[in-house]
Amino acid sequence: MHHFSYRDGSLFAEDVDLREVADAVGTPVYVYSSATIERHYRLFSAAVKAAAPTAKAHVFYAMKANGNLGVLKTLAALGAGADTVSEGEIRKALAAGFPPDRIVFSGVGKSESELRYAVEQGIYQVNIETEGELDLLSRVASALGKRQEAVFRVNPDIGAGGHAKITTGSSENKFGVSFEEVGRLYTRAANMPGVRMMGLALHIGSQIRETESYEAAYAKMVALVGDLRAEGHRVERLDLGGGLGIPYDIPKDFDHGPDLIEAYAAMVGRVTKGLDVELGFEPGRLIVGNAGILMTRVLHLNPRPTKQFLVVDAAMNDLVRPAMYEAYHEIWPVSEPEAGAPEIAYDVVGPICESGDTFTTGRLLPTLRPGDLIAFMTAGAYGASMSSTYNQRLLVPEVLVKGADYAVTRPRQSYEDLLGTDRAPPWLA
Ligand code: LLP
Repeated sequence: MHHFSYRDGSLFAEDVDLREVADAVGTPVYVYSSATIERHYRLFSAAVKAAAPTAKAHVFYAMKANGNLGVLKTLAALGAGADTVSEGEIRKALAAGFPPDRIVFSGVGKSESELRYAVEQGIYQVNIETEGELDLLSRVASALGKRQEAVFRVNPDIGAGGHAKITTGSSENKFGVSFEEVGRLYTRAANMPGVRMMGLALHIGSQIRETESYEAAYAKMVALVGDLRAEGHRVERLDLGGGLGIPYDIPKDFDHGPDLIEAYAAMVGRVTKGLDVELGFEPGRLIVGNAGILMTRVLHLNPRPTKQFLVVDAAMNDLVRPAMYEAYHEIWPVSEPEAGAPEIAYDVVGPICESGDTFTTGRLLPTLRPGDLIAFMTAGAYGASMSSTYNQRLLVPEVLVKGADYAVTRPRQSYEDLLGTDRAPPWLA
């Protein structure tokens, strides 16, 4: 569920009227609900902890989904760990208050300086994806006089997810070491001075709305743990990745129970029963997706003989998911429509100079006029975090709501910030 609902004719985030936010902060603007973030984190971590009562379960929030400082601090305060994929993310996680021993470093291509930084900070675990990375990590850590705890990210050759671009677990995808290689790499690692192999990790994709693919992949991992142990390797951790999907087609009275979370947790409990490992989880979208919206204002109407374009002040640089993955986002008018109000099919588009800057085509919405506010729902994950300044547009502000309070946790970028980092070459200065 989420905490966006109509009250007194206006859309509220918890107890904050979104019209007030638009007046004070301007549009476009991302708005996040602390209550939704907290609820989803608590539901997920309680479910996985209950499902695997004998194993320790650690939840590492995949901060690539939403790296807003307010969001991160909210989750750090709840005791979450962080799943990071770059030095920038590690730095931000530390700045937000995640202790180093609750930080995991994943990613296909980690550089030497990134690995050095991670080891220096004393992070909990590096998820190694290639043999070259294993060598590099050991060299970097031993030069620092340290031994870094790590796991191998294994490619289980089972992919899943809401779109081809976000499937990661198939052997055709670039992620992880192949299943057949793990034993040999484990043996090599045992003789390396800078790493201590603790177990395995996998991540099969994103926006997965069933448990069967997970179950197949996890069962393969459990068998692999047995094989490795039989060869005398130490396997104490199993990081099961993220990817659990969320509803994007939410009804106005959206009150989905935690069905999928419970089914997932029950499956994890079943598959890992008696295994005696510490489990790790890396949910991103599940925690923050339904907790955020992108609010935008209608700039213009552009009627055509066959369609009606609605030009809004947000664009694909602010929310790229529709252009990039044909993703569907509900659109809710901020002023509550009258029951039975006539609807028009709109193509909702942004101001960027390419036709791909289209949020939706032929969407039935109540009649809208320039100046009206609308909200793209379920934009809390991979919204602001994937935004850019394409067309020299300013990065949009982000607002975190808690009860009747709200705070601007990232102000709108200024033109000084946007233009001030450029340097002219000396011959043209
Ligand atoms: N762990 C690893 C290793 C990952 O690569 C990812 C996401 C996650 C965890 C978190 O997955 P989640 O629970 O959020 O599904 N930009 C795309 C999604 C890309 C996901 C990338 N990896 C989108 O907007 O749909």
